[in-house]
Amino acid sequence: MPASTLSKSNSSKRSVSTKKQKSPKAEKEILKSHIEGLSLPIVYSPSSSQFANLKFLTDWIRKNHKEIQRDLLIYGAILFRGFDIGSSENFEKVALGLDSNLSEAYLGTSPRDKKTKFVHTASELPSAYPIMQHAEMSFLNHPPKKLFFYAKIAPKKNGETPITDLRTVLREMPEHISGKAEKFGIKYIRHYDGPGSSRYSLWKTKRWSEMFKTEDKKIAEKEFKKQNFEHEWLPGNKLRLINSQVGIRKHPNSGSKAWHNHSQTFHIDSPRLEYKYIFQRQKTLRGFGVYLILNLLTFIKKAFQSSEELDVHATYGDGSEISQKDIKTILGVFWRNIQIFSWQKNDILYIDNYSVSHGRLPFTGEREIQVAWTE
Ligand SMILES: [Fe+2]
Repeated sequence: MPASTLSKSNSSKRSVSTKKQKSPKAEKEILKSHIEGLSLPIVYSPSSSQFANLKFLTDWIRKNHKEIQRDLLIYGAILFRGFDIGSSENFEKVALGLDSNLSEAYLGTSPRDKKTKFVHTASELPSAYPIMQHAEMSFLNHPPKKLFFYAKIAPKKNGETPITDLRTVLREMPEHISGKAEKFGIKYIRHYDGPGSSRYSLWKTKRWSEMFKTEDKKIAEKEFKKQNFEHEWLPGNKLRLINSQVGIRKHPNSGSKAWHNHSQTFHIDSPRLEYKYIFQRQKTLRGFGVYLILNLLTFIKKAFQSSEELDVHATYGDGSEISQKDIKTILGVFWRNIQIFSWQKNDILYIDNYSVSHGRLPFTGEREIQVAWTE
């Protein structure tokens, strides 16, 4: 990541360092450091190979639980790097050691494949798709508190899972945007195809039957009610969901406020704007092609469809549009603060979902990143 795009967040002021710092309690065994030039995540790694095995790591996590949680609260993201994880089952053991409240409930937008009771693939979306920065399921009443990612197969090039400090994003967001997000919240409009349709079309990332794990509309409707989703069944077994949610959230433990919504993910203009940053970074021919196609398709969709007809879109909670200029500004704040690092095989990234967002950059070739999350 170029130094010019480094975060000016508190966390970066606090401790951007490439030197390994010894933890007072875990001296000699686990070292803490930062990846050069990045303020996030803080990296935990074994000081020698004898401390890299799974048994040592899970014991160490148990003994140092308080210290790990304190670091997570401060930084918002911890990367466990250099440990012998080796399998989804072992990843699940580490995640359970860090937090016993793992959850299987998923109402997010990525198609995922189940690997163990609590572990899924992070996203089965095609590799060229951009996944903009977001806090997991921030459009729900109770988003998960913590997330875990595991690099089962690290991509050779690109395909990073960038993260951003959402507390910094809120601090740097112009008042005319954050004020509206706080006052009105954010309204989400989403459309889903039914069972038997393609798993994803360009703006629809999964089927409603996949999302609600049922083909029975009555059962699905019970979940809509629970989540305060307004729904409308459309011709062709399609579904429209509309819901409003807060735009800014307070951390359940620290009380600090963070930008916490999916506007930068669901807004009709987001993918094409995001791709400009992606192309500038990756400079691939495919990236340039996707950028052009997204611009053309977005233009056509906006010309022929109203806000409520778009496959997926976000407005302020009062229904007023988040203007093109505002969404550009929002993405700009994220990209000024985004922290991008390459995956290494066996990495486990532990994220405080109320403080730090994540996303995915396009890739080619093999990549398998798995995910688990808490309640
Ligand atoms: Fe996600």
